[in-house]
Amino acid sequence: MLNVVIFGAPGSGKGTQSELIIRKYELKHISTGEILRTEIKKRSELGLLADEYISKGQLVPDEVIIGMLETILNESKDVKGFIFDGFPRTLTQGEALDRMLREKDTSVAVVLNLSVEGKELVQRLLKRGEILGRSDDNPETIWSRLDVYHNQTEPLKEYYKKQGKLVTIKGDTVEDVFEKITDMLNRIL
Ligand code: AP5
Ligand code: MG
Repeated sequence: MLNVVIFGAPGSGKGTQSELIIRKYELKHISTGEILRTEIKKRSELGLLADEYISKGQLVPDEVIIGMLETILNESKDVKGFIFDGFPRTLTQGEALDRMLREKDTSVAVVLNLSVEGKELVQRLLKRGEILGRSDDNPETIWSRLDVYHNQTEPLKEYYKKQGKLVTIKGDTVEDVFEKITDMLNRIL
């Protein structure tokens, strides 16, 4: 199995690159943000709970997210691997992912850290807010998301660096970033 974590700040391109990666490598895309947004649209119990956090740019509690992931992993049979997009976001989630994959006799192969400047992130998210109207793409919530990323999610970089799995990818265009990612994944495969 090839298990890839795509890591980076809000707006760094995790979703965009994941779409390209799954087409080329036939991995299963797990975006916790997308799953939660679908639940919000359905107005399910999980959706209503998640909406309270997402609209403020705060993280949904670890136990909720980890439980959700556990269900998805157990339901996914015969897959070539996963791309985890927007998960893990805390050290607790990182440790839980390692445990869940260990139980399946597999592990995280690589963590692709998409590095983009803060100013560029804000511009991308504001632009998307105008076009798609995602509820958390407004100035106030964007600041909160970036702050949460810095304080709660960035420490995971050290966690993966210690495991020798962190690869930082910098690039301007979508194509440029994807080329660097494929170079990296082809080397692993
Ligand atoms: P989530 O959905 O994961 O959002 P995010 O991390 O804030 O990131 P985005 O989806 O906004 O950005 P992205 O990195 O995917 O970039 P994209 O490709 O879209 O999470 C949302 C919320 O859900 C969280 O705040 C939290 O509340 C909750 N949540 C989710 N997971 C959780 C977890 N594990 N634990 C707890 N809570 C959780 O690109 C952004 C834009 O830029 C697009 O318009 C794109 O077209 C453009 N773009 C992409 N690449 C480029 C490029 N190279 N050049 C120019 N433009 C580009
Ligand atoms: Mg995304």
